[in-house]
Amino acid sequence: MTAESADPLIAAAVAVRERAYAPYSRFAVGAALRCDDGRVFSGCNVENAAYPEGICAEGGAIAAMVAAGGRRIHEIVVCGGNEAAPCTPCGGCRQKLREFGEPDLSVRMVDPAGRVLLVRTLAELLPDSFGPTTLLQTDPVVK
Ligand code: THU
Repeated sequence: MTAESADPLIAAAVAVRERAYAPYSRFAVGAALRCDDGRVFSGCNVENAAYPEGICAEGGAIAAMVAAGGRRIHEIVVCGGNEAAPCTPCGGCRQKLREFGEPDLSVRMVDPAGRVLLVRTLAELLPDSFGPTTLLQTDPVVK
């Protein structure tokens, strides 16, 4: 076991990636997040013969958290790609993370062996984001 895979969140992301259902892209992804209450939720990508119906690993982890009553993401690890090309969250997943994470949310990207390749904040991945509080900043339009 490497020092990095001793990190339980990295270990969870590596393990759940092994369960990815990705027969079309052959690109397996795992994601593990820690909720603000300390619980860990994980998800993998689940593809579909009707390609647009596939879901991303991050989306699965977020759905598991919300279904269990969690609402705030404290940190997340995404596992995929390889040493030369880490799996960064897709655009849609960045926006999904914004719903439940602050701009300073730490997003770590690791390879399938659990080696940390890249560390970014959500604000770096999604600058000038549109988030839940943006909706509070406008006057409601009543028609
Ligand atoms: N994928 C994820 O699960 N998360 C991402 O952030 C990037 C892409 C999946 C979707 C699809 O199953 C495969 O990777 C190739 O795009």
